[in-house]
Order: sequence, then structure tokens, then C-alpha cells
Amino acid sequence: MNRYSTFLESSRPTRLARLALKVADGYISLRHPRQPWPPLTMMYEGPSSRWVYHRNGLAYLDHLKELAGLTPASRIFDIGCGLGRKTWPLAGYLETGEYLGVDPREEAVEWCRRSLSSRDRKLKFRHIDVQNGYYAPNGSHDAAAITLPADDDRYDIVMANSVFTHMLPGEIANYLGECSRILAPGGRLLCTFFMSPDSPAALGPISASPRYTFPYERDGYRVQHDNCDEHVVNYRESDVREMCDSAGIRLLDIKWGSWRGNARYLDFQDIVLGEKP
Ligand SMILES: C[S@@+](CC[C@H](N)C(=O)[O-])C[C@H]1O[C@@H](n2cnc3c(N)ncnc32)[C@H](O)[C@@H]1O
Repeated sequence: MNRYSTFLESSRPTRLARLALKVADGYISLRHPRQPWPPLTMMYEGPSSRWVYHRNGLAYLDHLKELAGLTPASRIFDIGCGLGRKTWPLAGYLETGEYLGVDPREEAVEWCRRSLSSRDRKLKFRHIDVQNGYYAPNGSHDAAAITLPADDDRYDIVMANSVFTHMLPGEIANYLGECSRILAPGGRLLCTFFMSPDSPAALGPISASPRYTFPYERDGYRVQHDNCDEHVVNYRESDVREMCDSAGIRLLDIKWGSWRGNARYLDFQDIVLGEKP
């Protein structure tokens, strides 16, 4: 079921792909008239599509259950929650659990409060005033030094989906340290990257051209766009492993994404699953 939305995310936005998305958007709007839909103009953090928003949320609900052990009792901290693409399926799901999503995009946090917290008071959202070259160029605080608004050892699951794909090495090192601080012992970290594997064989057969090629080399990472590093960032697997290790996160698994054109994948981005020992 996730294959189609993953395919549409991975493929280049050709005229045909855009038309297919329009049809799919119309279909999903009719099927789910009561779902809160963010305006398409606000959805610049992923494909501007209701269909992808819907499918991606459901796919991540499965990933959270299967990889991170999500239950209705889980305490979840969501770094860079955006427009709640991975949050909306949690409305009505949590019983004794809790959810806090944080993001530097104030208008996205406001939308989530209005549209998602109003449906389920367990879903909470908070604006953090942090700088990001692509998403929050005027943010006040340095992501390499910020403390996340959460108590030590509190959360069973911390997620950062499609967030480290827009952050620089010192910032990710700080955030992984923060993940380690706020996770309860045994708690899981589910985050995504665009990574280059240490061994290309890890990817299995390649069946399509890659969505990104990361042509520009920087000090310790590569980028897709020369004029804004944080637009999309690529790391070496060995560097991600080292950053997790230094932060006190035990890396449990990597699920390679389809963005490189590999035939076997779980989702579009590379999912990194970690644990606080
Ligand atoms: C591609 S979007 C992903 C949003 C959401 N996690 C999802 O999967 O749909 C990236 C999000 O990360 C947020 N972001 C960027 N820099 C951040 C930072 N330093 N701390 C927290 N969030 C950040 C952006 O504002 C944006 O909402």
C-alpha cells in the first residue's frame, strides 16, 4: 500500500506524476472528507499532496509500531513535526501515552494545534525558535547548541523524520545527544537520513535512477543544492554510526530507502533505528 506513495515521492515530478497525484488527491479527499487536511500551499516540506500526506502517515504508524514498539501507552517526542504528517494517525490512538511535536515553523505548529490538538488533547505541539538555513532562516537559536524542551529519560520513542536530512553535522551531533538525554533507558530513536552505505551491496539491486545525486561536496557531507546546504543533505553511513555512538545511541538497524533507486526498500528515506541502552 505504501509502494505507490513511495514511488511518487521518489520519481521526478514529471507532468504524468503530477497528474497522477491530482487524481489521487481527489480520490482521497472524497474517501476521507473528515480528515484535517493542511492547505497544499503549506506542504512544502514534502510533496504537496493529500494522498501522500495520508499514505505517509499510515506508513509511519506501521513503522512506529513495528520498529519502535509504539503502543497506546507510549510517550513520544517528535522533532520537526511539521504539519503532523506522521501525527494525524495518532489521534484517538494514545491512551495513557502522550505526544509532543516541536518545530521551528510557527505556522505549521499553529495548524497542528488548531487541527490535530483540537481532535485529541493528548497531541501537543510547541514552537521552538531555532535556526535552519532552509526552513527557518530567521530562527534565533543555534541548532548545534539548543536544548530541546523535554525532561531527561522521559520518552519511549523519539522520532525525527526527514529532519536530519536538512541539518548540518554539528547540529545533528547536538540533537542526537538530546535524543539520548530525553529517551528513557530502552527507548527507541526512529530517524531518517539520506545516507551513502559503507558497502553498496547493502542496497541490493538498483532498478531506477536516484532521486538525488548530491553533486556538491562539503566538509563531512554532500548536498544537492549549491545555494542552500540544508535543502537536502547526504551523510556517509560510517559518519552517522559514529555520531550515534558518540551520543550514546546504540544503532540497531538501517532500512535503506528507495531514493537511490534500489528495488528493495521500506520507505523513501533511509530509516535509522537506535536505542538508548
Ligand atoms: C521535511 S520536513 C518533515 C516534517 C515531518 N517530520 C514529516 O515527516 O512530515 C522537515 C521539518 O523539520 C523542521 N526543522 C528544520 N530544522 C529543525 C531543527 N533544527 N529542529 C527541529 N525541527 C527542524 C522543519 O521546520 C520542517 O518542518
